[in-house]
Amino acid sequence: MQIRKIQFQLLKEIEPLWLANNSFKTQFFNTLSMFFPFGEGYFIETFRDITRKNLVRDLALSEKIRIFTAQEAMHSHAHQEFNDYLHDQGLPFTLLGWFEVRSSIFNKIHSHTTKLAVTMAYEHITAIFSYLALRDNLLGDVCDQNLKRMWLWHASEEIEHRSIAFELYQHIGGGYWRRQYGMLFAILNICIDTSAQVILNLYRSGLLFKLKTWREAYGFMFGRDRFIPLSARKLYPFIKPQWYPPELGVNLAEQWLKENSDYFRVLGK
Ligand SMILES: [Fe+2]
Ligand SMILES: [Fe+2]
Repeated sequence: MQIRKIQFQLLKEIEPLWLANNSFKTQFFNTLSMFFPFGEGYFIETFRDITRKNLVRDLALSEKIRIFTAQEAMHSHAHQEFNDYLHDQGLPFTLLGWFEVRSSIFNKIHSHTTKLAVTMAYEHITAIFSYLALRDNLLGDVCDQNLKRMWLWHASEEIEHRSIAFELYQHIGGGYWRRQYGMLFAILNICIDTSAQVILNLYRSGLLFKLKTWREAYGFMFGRDRFIPLSARKLYPFIKPQWYPPELGVNLAEQWLKENSDYFRVLGK
């Protein structure tokens, strides 16, 4: 694993429908981007909380945690730059206040192990999305190339560090039911949060009440891309007691990072 800084110029004009002129997919990916800095900040905080308590007694795992944290910080930074651009274009991250309230309540109620269970669940969902983005070319060929590169760099690193949250969870003695609780919490939140922010983005872009938008929504979720059934099928094995983060898309990620090495700088290993 490496710590990489992607080079991209977001200051130039970006087409409002930068993803294949597809209103729904553009606003879906804009929404995910809005969520990342908060979510990844939460993952980093959860890891730090555990390391500060001196609960990691394995040097190799400590090293992986260091790289995980650095990679997530880089992702957050890149997405924040894009999110600031979206904000200036009239697409603010409206759910941020709610995210802050919910996570502060959650943190008061739950232990660091449960926070890590939720982090691990989000990490697994992200790794599945990353795998589908790489395997099925979800961003398509008619896409802003700078943005596509940012997404696939992020996706490749998510696949690269897919198992670290789980390894830490096992290391501190996290069990089966807490892991399932974490996943249930993550799935419910991701469904509700994503729907709400996508609808807001579509409304603000004047695209919510267009038939084309909802045809595209169907095509993405259940039609051509089959994003929902494919994600669900990959998520299902998580219910097994002997589950371990699968090697989904490892070759695709390695290949992408190799072919696009001119576009990022390696800051460390
Ligand atoms: Fe990330
Ligand atoms: Fe991650």
